[in-house]
Amino acid sequence: MEHGKAIGAIEFSKHFYETKQIKYLDNFLGHKLYRDNHTTYRLEDYITTNAEMKTQLEKARRSAQKSAPVLLTGETGTGKDIIAQGIHNESERYTKPFITLNCSTLTEDNIFTQLYGSDNEAKSGKLQEANGGTLLIDHLNLLDISLQAKLLHAVDIKVLNGEPLDIRYITTVNEDVDKLLAEKRLREDLFYRLNVLQIDLPPLRLRKEDIPLILDFYIQFYNEHTLQKNVSYCNEVIQLFYAYHWPGNVRELKNALESAYNNLLGDEILVEHVPERIKKNVQHSTQSIMQNNQSGHLRDLTEAYERQIIAEKLRETDGRLAETARRLGISRQLLKYKCLKYELL
Ligand SMILES: Nc1ncnc2c1ncn2[C@@H]1O[C@H](COP(=O)(O)OP(=O)(O)O)[C@@H](O)[C@H]1O
Ligand SMILES: [Mg+2]
Repeated sequence: MEHGKAIGAIEFSKHFYETKQIKYLDNFLGHKLYRDNHTTYRLEDYITTNAEMKTQLEKARRSAQKSAPVLLTGETGTGKDIIAQGIHNESERYTKPFITLNCSTLTEDNIFTQLYGSDNEAKSGKLQEANGGTLLIDHLNLLDISLQAKLLHAVDIKVLNGEPLDIRYITTVNEDVDKLLAEKRLREDLFYRLNVLQIDLPPLRLRKEDIPLILDFYIQFYNEHTLQKNVSYCNEVIQLFYAYHWPGNVRELKNALESAYNNLLGDEILVEHVPERIKKNVQHSTQSIMQNNQSGHLRDLTEAYERQIIAEKLRETDGRLAETARRLGISRQLLKYKCLKYELL
């Protein structure tokens, strides 16, 4: 493409190219692969220099050679989609469909048609669509426990409408697995069925050395794809980014950068271009709670910290009180009381 216009085309014929050769063509063309499996990511797209994350990536790479189910855990925005698509594209199944079942939208009323389709509407279900390929069971932790038995039944099916069913399952959760099991929000039998290989993506705040790499990558990307061609950032910005705890992980970092681009007049991203929310919350980190607190009494410090935790959880759930209370393991009433006390509502 040049200036939004196609200036050339290349045909990929799935029957004649080896994965290796397609990778060569991808590199040659200098852009992401465009396969008809509806994915955009490969494992190589995952930017990291963190040792723990590299170990997890290696696990993902090895898992691609097998068909055993994979469970991906990691907070929102840690790149679970990249890893899931990457495993699919690295596997023998890469020419076959990559289908997503989004558990957050499943209800008693639609789960059956989502899985098996509907004859009257002539709609195929996700199981059939994913046959031969990969089914991503996304946000399993948001699936109501009462519906989990239905999902367990579905993933155990070997034959559907007289056709043998061959699906590679990849599941994601963005909460701690032990907590989900302890709180009986995840059925054990379903968990054991879907978790043969577990890959845990550490949050960005535990691998801050990745921040400059990710920043540089996206700055280069925006420089190539927007009208602003020579953008860079100043040292204070990187310091600010190091100090922040990134509850929304890489997604939040990417958005912060995009918003800075929108606020930019010159060529350098300064602290003033960074979203207010980030600057405000940096001042609330534990260390600055200590420094900023007048009395220095434990009670005042823990209250300041509690306020920060609740504010963070509220952000994660888009301000939904019941869900926030559930995640924090307290009653809705107590949460409401604390929100009023800390002026969070
Ligand atoms: N390690 C990474 N390197 C580059 N981009 C990343 C990385 N992790 C996440 N992203 C980007 O952040 C955004 C959120 O990633 P996604 O895979 O959707 O997260 P999740 O599914 O865990 O919520 C996407 O735009 C993705 O491209
Ligand atoms: Mg995701």
